[in-house]
Amino acid sequence: MANTIQGIRGMNDVLPQDSARWLHVEQVFRDWAAAYGYKNIRMPIVEPTGLFVRGVGEHTDIVEKEMYSFEDSLNGEKLTLRPEGTAGCVRACIEHALLYNQTQRLWYIGPMFRHERPQKGRYRQFHQLGIEAFGFDGPDVDAELIVMLADLWQRLGLAGMQLELNSLGNADERAAHRVALIAYLEKFIDILDEDGKRRLYTNPLRVLDTKNPALQKMAEQAPKLSEFLGEESRLHLAGVRARLDAAGISYTLNDRLVRGLDYYNRTVFEWTTTELGAQATVAAGGRYDGLVEQLGGKSCPAVGFAIGIERLLLLLEAQGIACAGEAADVYLVHQGDEAAALAFTTAITLRKAGLAVVLHAGGGSFKSQFKKADASGARFAVVIGESEALAGQASLKTLTGEGQGEQRTLAIADLAAAIAAG
Ligand code: HAM
Repeated sequence: MANTIQGIRGMNDVLPQDSARWLHVEQVFRDWAAAYGYKNIRMPIVEPTGLFVRGVGEHTDIVEKEMYSFEDSLNGEKLTLRPEGTAGCVRACIEHALLYNQTQRLWYIGPMFRHERPQKGRYRQFHQLGIEAFGFDGPDVDAELIVMLADLWQRLGLAGMQLELNSLGNADERAAHRVALIAYLEKFIDILDEDGKRRLYTNPLRVLDTKNPALQKMAEQAPKLSEFLGEESRLHLAGVRARLDAAGISYTLNDRLVRGLDYYNRTVFEWTTTELGAQATVAAGGRYDGLVEQLGGKSCPAVGFAIGIERLLLLLEAQGIACAGEAADVYLVHQGDEAAALAFTTAITLRKAGLAVVLHAGGGSFKSQFKKADASGARFAVVIGESEALAGQASLKTLTGEGQGEQRTLAIADLAAAIAAG
């Protein structure tokens, strides 16, 4: 026998026993996004590499080392499996003139790809639910997005989510802070680790993101961006905070929250949990008022976030939140040729009446068929044997829930109504 081919490390199959959770959260997502007036958009998984270099930022971890990039073998075009959805969403909006004199509230769902070291909650193919709002520059929309996530946690029954909030100011404020920060960090050049030295001039804010305990004190005493915020940025942050307070949402102001993508300005936030170890951030986002223009569109304010679906599912599991599996209404058991023929048409009739029916296939004794019926989770078994087939009847047996074990004989024509009633 030939060797089997394995899936790619960090890219997971979702097996039937796990897919009920996915279907459940996807359904909740759809209702929830609609409740806030967001419309679905679907972008390709592959985009030109330049979109992410320009959009996410040349000196980010994502662009420097995590992208799955390749050349189109036919025309040499440089392409990348999308590492995130915001850049592609902005590209699509510009390309289809969705931002011309109009606002947009959009959501998308799908796989993203980053070449990271796989571990629990961190994968190479993972899935995001993304929300993007275009054309709104006030703090009300920032706050509404955060409130929207708090509402989602509630809809899913999740407890203990924590919110961190920061303002990254505008480009000039960040530039002034950056000058001060580089001057400060240069004093520590000898103790900076390799990553720190590399980022000192390319991405000094990320130097503060260090996990190295020896550098913690240096990071804590570094000049803070909050000290460089101008009047408008401070008012914007105050506007977000006032609305969160009004909505009763508590948060921690974290001036070290910088995010791993370059497009943010002003509001940034992360919803975290203490239950997933190092992969603590379940949803994250912020304002990115400059990105549309940077990608060639007419200047347009924007704000959004993405939820890591695998992390959300791990958290649902950790908190013991059950998601109902999908079971058919009926498992149809039959034996003998006449019975098989009647079962075949009965299944069609029941499905037309709106019921979900598994028609047993592959023969076997009544006993083995009943085992399968039980394992299927169906609420009812419909049983057609030789004698029922001759009489144009079936037995209806309740397998789960109220009336479990009860059995009665009915005309085929009366089955659907009896099942719907019970
Ligand atoms: P991000 O922080 O890079 O932001 O990713 C958002 C979320 O995706 C993370 O908080 C995490 O839950 C999940 N995630 C990221 N990488 C992985 C991974 N390797 N494995 C599993 N889950 C992961 C963005 O992607 C922005 N586009 C969010 C945004 C939308 N900002 C504005 N609009």
